[in-house]
Amino acid sequence: MSQNVSALLYIVSGVLFIMALRGLSHPTTSRQGNLYGMIGMGLAVLTTLVGHPPAGVGAWALIILGLAIGGGAGAVIAKRVPMTAMPQLVAAFHSLVGLAAVAGAAATLYAPQAVGILENGHIHKESLFEMALGVAIGAITFTGSVIAFAKLDGRMSGKPIMLPQRHAINIALGIALVVLIAIFIGTESKAIFWLIVLLSFALGGLLIIPIGGADMPVVVSMLNSYSGWAAAGIGFTLGNLALIITGALVGSSGAILSYIMCKAMNRSFFSVILGGFGGDAAAGPAGAVETRPVKQGSADDAAYIMKNAERVIIVPGYGMAVAQAQHSLREMVDMLKKEGVDVKYAIHPVAGRMPGHMNVLLAEANVPYDEVFELEDINGEFPQADVAFVIGANDVTNPAAKTDKASPIYGMPILDVEKAKTVLFIKRGMGSGYAGVENEVFFRDNTMMLFGDAKKVVDSILKNL
Ligand code: TAP
Repeated sequence: MSQNVSALLYIVSGVLFIMALRGLSHPTTSRQGNLYGMIGMGLAVLTTLVGHPPAGVGAWALIILGLAIGGGAGAVIAKRVPMTAMPQLVAAFHSLVGLAAVAGAAATLYAPQAVGILENGHIHKESLFEMALGVAIGAITFTGSVIAFAKLDGRMSGKPIMLPQRHAINIALGIALVVLIAIFIGTESKAIFWLIVLLSFALGGLLIIPIGGADMPVVVSMLNSYSGWAAAGIGFTLGNLALIITGALVGSSGAILSYIMCKAMNRSFFSVILGGFGGDAAAGPAGAVETRPVKQGSADDAAYIMKNAERVIIVPGYGMAVAQAQHSLREMVDMLKKEGVDVKYAIHPVAGRMPGHMNVLLAEANVPYDEVFELEDINGEFPQADVAFVIGANDVTNPAAKTDKASPIYGMPILDVEKAKTVLFIKRGMGSGYAGVENEVFFRDNTMMLFGDAKKVVDSILKNL
């Protein structure tokens, strides 16, 4: 295959990736977007294999074995993973992208003749620079993602771990890395290359350990961005257009996503990276929460109140995802609509544990898109609503974000559920949300707590309707 043809095919796969991102931006087109992405990736892999055919049967066998093991494992894991474990799965997969960047750079360093980056027996300086940068970012992504996975999966405490002098240590490591990269470019030394890898592994872990669990989704998306830039860097070294395009797309979309999440939580990107959020407060609800009285209701009460309401706004959150209550919820809403109740869904941009989490679950339950509203479009309607039906959400309804400057969620935009005539709150107990802060709405006169697993509670409301 001529270089022009393979460049053209790579560009086609790049266009398919862009169409995939476009498709993934809305639930109605996301399946199609996924399909474009798969076709694009298939085309890119085939183009590489045909354009640079592996030398000999052994190499072909290795590639096919790699595809079968990787593809097989990916398919099985994706089929088995529950929606609630998706953030940690993404973190685990990013660690592999980081490791792939390290492996790619090492292979290039040990066999530079294979990718044509040699001149008079030496590797081009710019290739050494791309290699060093790619390997450093890849190694940081690897250990950072492993820590993010461990925290999200509960294998490591979600609490930020404040190492003494951590900023000074990180800055020292960063400076040492820059110096080593400069020496590597000058000397082409393999030992220095591995020293860069080791130092970057350490830096990746140290950077992520102090960051609290509540900020992990932002971190995962930031690491996603890093892994993209690492891939793009290696793409330049290998002269592979597809890798450069894909890396840049992943790098920029990850960075934009981190920015959007920070904005939705009203936090600065640097305050996330510097760590500390979700610390002591996240350790558990304050003692006072347990002792103050709350008004408790039954499924029967909830059914009665909602059947007699004119307007109900549903506010789903992380607990709905845990309970997988979305299907029962839709059935409940169908019943209410039959009774002539006007029902809408209000989605907070960071409800759940990943962007679009609630939209995906509601789409899975075939909730019509025109009933689902973003925060800024529906917040003004709570004062006219008879019922705010909060199902497994907590932080995103906490008015302390508007009033309490000391609260870790201060400044985050909030769904004004407390302005509805009645607030029905479904949760299992008085536990706090991800940010670990208590929610005043539980104790208000117009609030009725419905304790229990979200799916079970909704099912019994359904029976009572
Ligand atoms: P949370 O504030 O985390 O509250 C979820 C509530 O669900 C908990 O208080 C829990 O109370 C309840 N719950 C858990 N399992 C349940 C079950 N099986 N049945 C019923 N209730 C259950 O959730 P939220 O309001 O969706 O807010 C999301 C949080 O994640 C925010 O702090 C946000 O900043 C953070 N975050 C999100 C993202 C994205 S992109 N979504 C990114 C970064 C950070 P009980 O234990 O009492 O049941």
